[in-house]
Amino acid sequence: MVVGQRSWSTQTVAGSELVPGVLLLRYRRHSGGEEQATKATKATAGATSATSAAVKRRRQLERGQMTRPASMAFEMSNKNKELMNDIFTNCKLKNGFGPSVQATAAATSPTKRPLSPDHPNPALPITETPSPAMNRMGWALRTLLVADNSSCLKDRKVSGKLIRKCAPGTELVDWLVNLSPIVHTRAQAAGMWQALLEEGVLAHVNKEQPFKDKCFLYRFRLDEEGGTAAAGVPQADDLGAANEHIREALSALFQRGPDATLRMILRKPSHERTSEELELVFEELVHIAALSHLSTSIKRELSSIFVFEAHAQAGTILFNQGDEGRSWYILLKGSVDVVIHGKGTVATLKTGDDFGKLALINDAPRAATIVLKENNCHLLRVDKEHFNRILRDVEANTLRLQEHGKDVLVLERVAKQRGQHSAFKYTVMSGTPAKMLEHLLETRLGQSVGGLDPFLDDFLLTHIVFMPVVQLVDELANYFHCDAHEDAQTAEDREYIINFKKRVIQFMQKWVMAVRHAAFEEPSVCDFIEDLAAEVEADPDLNEETSIVHNVLTQMARYQEDRNQNAGQKWKLPPNGQPICLFSGNATPSKTVIRPDDDIIFRVYCADHTYCTLRFPMHTTAELIKACAADKLQLNRGPEDLVLVEVKSNGERSVFKDNDVSIPTGLSLNGRLFVSVKDHLDALTQLQEQECPTEGVDIDLEILSTKELAYHITLFEWDLFWAVHEYELLYHTFGRHHFGKITANLDVFLRRFNEVQYWIVTELVSTPSLSKRVGLVRKFIKLAAYCKEYQNLNAFFAVVMGLSNMAVSRLQQTWEKIPSKFRKIFQEFEALIDPSRNHRAYRVFVGKLQPPLIPFMPLLLKDMTFAHEGNKTSLDGLVNFEKMHMMAQTMRTIRFCRSRSLGLEPPSPKSEGEVRTYISSFRVIDNQRVLTAMSQKVEPTRKL
Ligand code: CMP
Repeated sequence: MVVGQRSWSTQTVAGSELVPGVLLLRYRRHSGGEEQATKATKATAGATSATSAAVKRRRQLERGQMTRPASMAFEMSNKNKELMNDIFTNCKLKNGFGPSVQATAAATSPTKRPLSPDHPNPALPITETPSPAMNRMGWALRTLLVADNSSCLKDRKVSGKLIRKCAPGTELVDWLVNLSPIVHTRAQAAGMWQALLEEGVLAHVNKEQPFKDKCFLYRFRLDEEGGTAAAGVPQADDLGAANEHIREALSALFQRGPDATLRMILRKPSHERTSEELELVFEELVHIAALSHLSTSIKRELSSIFVFEAHAQAGTILFNQGDEGRSWYILLKGSVDVVIHGKGTVATLKTGDDFGKLALINDAPRAATIVLKENNCHLLRVDKEHFNRILRDVEANTLRLQEHGKDVLVLERVAKQRGQHSAFKYTVMSGTPAKMLEHLLETRLGQSVGGLDPFLDDFLLTHIVFMPVVQLVDELANYFHCDAHEDAQTAEDREYIINFKKRVIQFMQKWVMAVRHAAFEEPSVCDFIEDLAAEVEADPDLNEETSIVHNVLTQMARYQEDRNQNAGQKWKLPPNGQPICLFSGNATPSKTVIRPDDDIIFRVYCADHTYCTLRFPMHTTAELIKACAADKLQLNRGPEDLVLVEVKSNGERSVFKDNDVSIPTGLSLNGRLFVSVKDHLDALTQLQEQECPTEGVDIDLEILSTKELAYHITLFEWDLFWAVHEYELLYHTFGRHHFGKITANLDVFLRRFNEVQYWIVTELVSTPSLSKRVGLVRKFIKLAAYCKEYQNLNAFFAVVMGLSNMAVSRLQQTWEKIPSKFRKIFQEFEALIDPSRNHRAYRVFVGKLQPPLIPFMPLLLKDMTFAHEGNKTSLDGLVNFEKMHMMAQTMRTIRFCRSRSLGLEPPSPKSEGEVRTYISSFRVIDNQRVLTAMSQKVEPTRKL
């Protein structure tokens, strides 16, 4: 069976299957086109009008000689009922019928009819059986008609066949107009007969015509069925009962007539709707809340394409979750349940609500099953082709999905992005974590979407903020085992379940693709992947997925192997300078990622500048470091009295939170870690060595090739950049203590930026010779140019910012001697790093580059911080996914920059070994006051 193939046979579902929390297997859709035997709820009679405020608007319109209400449920208001009763009380019945005697209830027998055909036939009834009330009205009218000597209800020969007791529409109208003065117009009378026809009390003899004031023949259902009730002239007591009931019957029919006429129009094929009829429909559409955002011209277009659908039985399934979306619906009368696999009924939609546009707009499978909650529900339907033509581009911007009365997903329409196959899509603005995941699995994976959906990518990059890995794995396992409680499965159910499993596997594959090794770092993920692989291998229906799972398993094995090889990796944080990797058995020292359980050796000082050396895993908390250092330094104070603090080279102090991690790598260039009694914090002073240059190779820069310098700086920084995981940006922005995760690789990369920047300044202010300084400035401008050429924008910024540092820019004598050609180049560079208009110049420039490139990392962090501080993470209890999207955009930039490997043409080696040693550890002073003082010393300010 083709999923979602429309056949208007309907199905019902037993209420017990809809219990929330119980797995709801896919309801079967009948494909044969015939009516399917169902566990039908007995068709109940008398499904009376729902009278919600939205549909109760009453308005009397004289149009085409017909009084017509304007409510979309097409029901008369109480006010009008009173008015009608009033008219009837004063009504003199014509034709001389006397007072009534007790009526007998009309017999009812169910008529079989195809429910909601694609092209509904307005000649057919819309209810399974007439309601008792309509049956009784019909009976009263027929009794009076038959008793009338000049009755139009006669036995007639049609195409040689005798039809008992039938009458032309025109004569039935004449009779009704004559019966009561309240029936002013023929159109009103025709509407009243149509009301009887749509419930099957009256029928066209060939079931081909709705009621028309024409010579088509109609007869009562009673006469169609024959039997004693239809035979002969009515008895006196029947006549009495009919007479007694007729006022009430006419009043009710008078009210129902206009609605019945409208429904009849809406069941006609659009080309058969006259302009007058379209006008009638249009005036009704004006009052539907779900259409209020649409323009008049669109509503006019809709008048001709809306189709009326009626469903008699509660439990009927309109469509199934996972089906292809084919129509959009507005509920005119009744209510429907929104049912989701594994959750049961999550919402009930009522009169005036609409549903089903999500699948149409997103070109995605249905996100829920829609089951009728009541008998005799009425709907307006717009089919996909019309929806796409008329509505898709003008659809409301925001769509809110609720479960149990609360918003769970807020979607917003976005314009088409290049490469997307559909013109417009809804994107997630906010939602509960579980609902967003469900939305992803249900509508963004599987057959309809190719490539990496931006929403999926955003989710994978940012879920750690709102949905911890353990929870994500749990949810995925639940989805994958959605058949766990189902024993007997039909082939169709099985197909559906298999599709679901496939989506979980796809999700996992894309997850691993998006976050790489970060997924394998979590034991719960590895267990999940292994379990999944075992299940996929054992399931012949998932044959095609085995290669995906194997691929993921191979990646996981490679990661674990790499991890084992690098296990016990040790780092040393020298008293100053970059952390140095003390490799233990690692043959490839480049591209080394710092891992949470790597050890790092570092010093912790106390107020008197004595220190201890500690070795701890990178993920150790500040609290533990503090306790251990205090113990080693014999501070003899409880942990609550102590703080772990960084003292920067300028004396500034910054206290760590107890649950902070990756402390040593987070220090500033020349910062030192201190443990101190809380109350003595102010007494902490920096070490003298912090004002001196960091340890580094002392070399005459002049002899090193500038291009070679730029080349090796770029290789070095590429490796540092490569080691940074996108998640580290999130940890950094939200605070690593929230996640308990290290940001060591990002710390080291940021530290490198400062190192290069201050290296430039340090070198220049510690060069007493003017000519050498001039030579150095020229060299650094050239260095910036090479870094730019190598697309190492992080180093480019660092060098240019170093040259713009106040301690350098004030070196007037030096700058005067710089050739104008160099000065001009430098001015261009300064323009490129100009922060105005949110670094527009740089953004435009970098936007044109192709990878590989090393971005200016501080700006990416600024963007993250801006997105974080300017937007709440949670909005009314829902995850603000727009914020996640903003953050993911920045994280994607990093991925883009590294999407091609660095393959620079090496410059001809002159002093390769020296350059490599030199650039890995610069001599740096990062105290601005000291640098300015040194600058003053080499070039004292000229006295005027
Ligand atoms: P669609 O996915 O086209 O088909 C099922 C419809 O149910 C869906 O569009 C929404 O219009 C509607 N719906 C209402 N509430 C929810 C919900 N909580 N989750 C999913 N769908 C819902």
